[in-house]
Amino acid sequence: MYKNILEMIVCPKCQGKLKLESEKQINGEVIDGMLACSNNHEWKIEEGVINFESKEQEKANNWSESYKEVDYDELDRKIKEKTPQIQLDAQEKAKKEIISLINKYQAKKVLDIATGRGILLIKLVKKFGNNIDLVCIDLSFDVLKYDRIKSMKINPDAKINYIACDASKLPFLRDMFDLSISFFGIQNMTDLTSKGVQEGVRVSKKGLINAGIVIKDDNSKIELLNKLLAEHGYDFKVDSVTESHFHQLHKIDESYKVKINNIFEGIGEENENDLIPIEGEWFAIAISETDMS
Ligand SMILES: C[S@@+](CC[C@H](N)C(=O)[O-])C[C@H]1O[C@@H](n2cnc3c(N)ncnc32)[C@H](O)[C@@H]1O
Repeated sequence: MYKNILEMIVCPKCQGKLKLESEKQINGEVIDGMLACSNNHEWKIEEGVINFESKEQEKANNWSESYKEVDYDELDRKIKEKTPQIQLDAQEKAKKEIISLINKYQAKKVLDIATGRGILLIKLVKKFGNNIDLVCIDLSFDVLKYDRIKSMKINPDAKINYIACDASKLPFLRDMFDLSISFFGIQNMTDLTSKGVQEGVRVSKKGLINAGIVIKDDNSKIELLNKLLAEHGYDFKVDSVTESHFHQLHKIDESYKVKINNIFEGIGEENENDLIPIEGEWFAIAISETDMS
């Protein structure tokens, strides 16, 4: 944690201001310490990450559980190995588009929502280094702990803040950032996606750039896949990745005008990690941005 974050964050329980009560610093970064608000809610800073004690998702993205079997780097390698080329191409295109939008909006204070294993983060570190103030948040303390180490190896000068917290209740005041971004992060918030969009917009002056995979509304496999997911205990429905759902999600209120573009289109290939894109079916990468025109 870097101390510049103190003017931006609030206590996740009472929204009060937080103060640093104790700290151990290395090279200007608080590695271990304690934050407290005036109502005596206390939060640890551990291994450089602010821990607001959010609970990981139970089924998908349960990173601490995965790291019991295989370490962070090995898991990264395995997932990449199994990701079809079309999805890697789509990811690359989405990362480039997000970077060009950060430049277009001249955003200096950027919030990455649901950083996960940091596919976008690594690109941002390589591209911007310490030229932007980046804050990364995720439900998972464990994944952020490793993201921090990975980013540091790439550029130790990039002073990034990491916060384990819930993106449906972001611990920031309104307009604290220039821009919120999310790379398939908000899309993974299951029944909280709409809260994720609203919160991303609330905390940034120039709103939210949100990337997600979309499928056609009339895809004939939706019903079958929903049945399969329910049978396996997932509370996620494939309907939530249709084009119309993605558009609906960003209709917050009259004041928020949004543009949505499909920046990549393709046909899903066999993939044992992901259900979406669906094998043999059309998909696109949709990116939403605030319509400033
Ligand atoms: C597919 S990953 C996102 C990919 C990531 N942005 C990247 O660049 O690699 C989805 C992430 O969403 C996170 N997530 C899900 N629900 C969340 C919530 N309510 N608040 C914060 N993070 C959440 C999960 O913990 C997971 O790490």
